[in-house]
Amino acid sequence: MTAVTKTRMNEAAIRKAHMLIGGKWVGSASGEVFEVENPANRRSIAEVPRGRAEDVDRAVKAAAEAFPAWSRTTPRERGRLLARIADALEERVEELARTVALETGNAIRTQSRPEAKVTVDVFRYFGGLGGELKGETIPLGEQILSYTRREPLGVVGAIIPWNAPVSLGAVKIGPALCAGNTMVLKAAEDAPLGVLLLAEVCQQILPPGVLNVLTGYGEECGAPLAVHPLVRKLSFTGSTEVGKLVMHAAADRIVPISLELGGKSPSIVFPDANEDWVIEGMISAMRFTRQSQSCTAGSRLFLHRDIFDDFLERLGRKVTALKLGDPLDEASDIGTIINEKQFKKVCGYVEDGLKQRAGRVVIGGLPPKEGPLSEGYYAIPTIFANAANDWRLAREEIFGPVLVAIPWTDEADAIRMANDSHYGLAAYVWSHDLGRALRTAHAIESGWVQVNQGVGQSLGQPYGGYKQSGIGREFSLDGMLDSYTQSKTITVNLTH
Ligand code: NAI
Ligand code: MG
Repeated sequence: MTAVTKTRMNEAAIRKAHMLIGGKWVGSASGEVFEVENPANRRSIAEVPRGRAEDVDRAVKAAAEAFPAWSRTTPRERGRLLARIADALEERVEELARTVALETGNAIRTQSRPEAKVTVDVFRYFGGLGGELKGETIPLGEQILSYTRREPLGVVGAIIPWNAPVSLGAVKIGPALCAGNTMVLKAAEDAPLGVLLLAEVCQQILPPGVLNVLTGYGEECGAPLAVHPLVRKLSFTGSTEVGKLVMHAAADRIVPISLELGGKSPSIVFPDANEDWVIEGMISAMRFTRQSQSCTAGSRLFLHRDIFDDFLERLGRKVTALKLGDPLDEASDIGTIINEKQFKKVCGYVEDGLKQRAGRVVIGGLPPKEGPLSEGYYAIPTIFANAANDWRLAREEIFGPVLVAIPWTDEADAIRMANDSHYGLAAYVWSHDLGRALRTAHAIESGWVQVNQGVGQSLGQPYGGYKQSGIGREFSLDGMLDSYTQSKTITVNLTH
């Protein structure tokens, strides 16, 4: 049996999904729907409501109505409900993993199942933070009592992308609800099914209207959410381009905003790190098993000239050994690109790289036009050597498995090139010399620098970008307090 027929067998008949508004499962006001495609074989797997401004309005009003009671629920009690969501979700991890694999093309073993497990953990983590919504007392003397309260903002409008849809949804829902806000979450049009399943589990436990989930296109459903007058906070994850639009909408009403945007993260390898564990770490940092559709992908590799050719040859051999195939097959390491538009975009970058005279292809190239892999959006991991930092491939976020390797000899020059980007999300430094590695980490303009590892975000660590990679922090207590609460000061004169 080929990989592709296996996928077909796993597909249910076309599913008709609904959105969650005010605790009810509903279609769009217009009755319109759109189809969700399985990127591994380009077949339709579900129909979901095509939400528009009218649906956004209904959802925001439901969230506004639910807000007073939810915000007055004690924080520990809100946390307890989030922890119950974690338990209920844990029972359905496999279903969640398969749904996400089917709609995104993310391989189940390497990506969708780990993502589903992280999603459970996100609810468990934020479920424990209710008691941490503490204020301060300010020492103004014996006659004055001045203290602060952490109060919720109100209705949060959240917009998320498709690359890790359920965990990125959870890192907005968890802290926003724990802090006492209610939410309207717009799922990405390419990956709404896992998010709707997550919403189903949440709705079994939460009061109606606390979480509302919409499906729809960016301009039709995301844009009206960003401008809705009852939305008091915006939280967006996605492209820098759309992040700017949402920020403009926020500016018009002075609405606080959190943005988690793109990246073009550098990975700096010192000459003492020409070792196998670094090569493994690099594969992880580049997120090859996520088709590199990750904002933290270490996609600019600055390799010391002394080890350049040898390191790349060994890296190339390891990456080539990864198995591309059916996302639902446990044997697959790498699945597919999300959709045709992104697939063509990634291929365009590869074509561009192939045309660069100074560059050299270490592995990869354009995807096959025939055979089982041509049935889906399978991109081949590709590495270009001797790239220049001013190539389009080295400057723009490709969001596909295309790595550019740039040689360096002088440490200051490597740091200068690493910082020569309008992005600043993540970075990776590889060396046994901890002094040198930490000097480099401190000099890099990024929100998150990893030394000698290339793993994904960990709960508890503030995560977010410098420069055009974003504003605000997620995944952490600080992120919850900064992004989802506002501080009120109360000053009492004790002499009267
Ligand atoms: P996108 O930024 O267009 O989509 C993200 C979300 O924003 C989706 O829910 C979409 O419906 C919504 N959206 C789109 N236009 C909107 C608008 N005018 N107003 C409000 N919401 C809107 O990302 P897209 O088109 O899926 O991917 C394009 C590129 O963006 C990728 O190649 C990648 O470079 C980057 N990207 C970065 C992500 C990250 O995690 N940092 C995630 C996804 C994409
Ligand atoms: Mg877009």
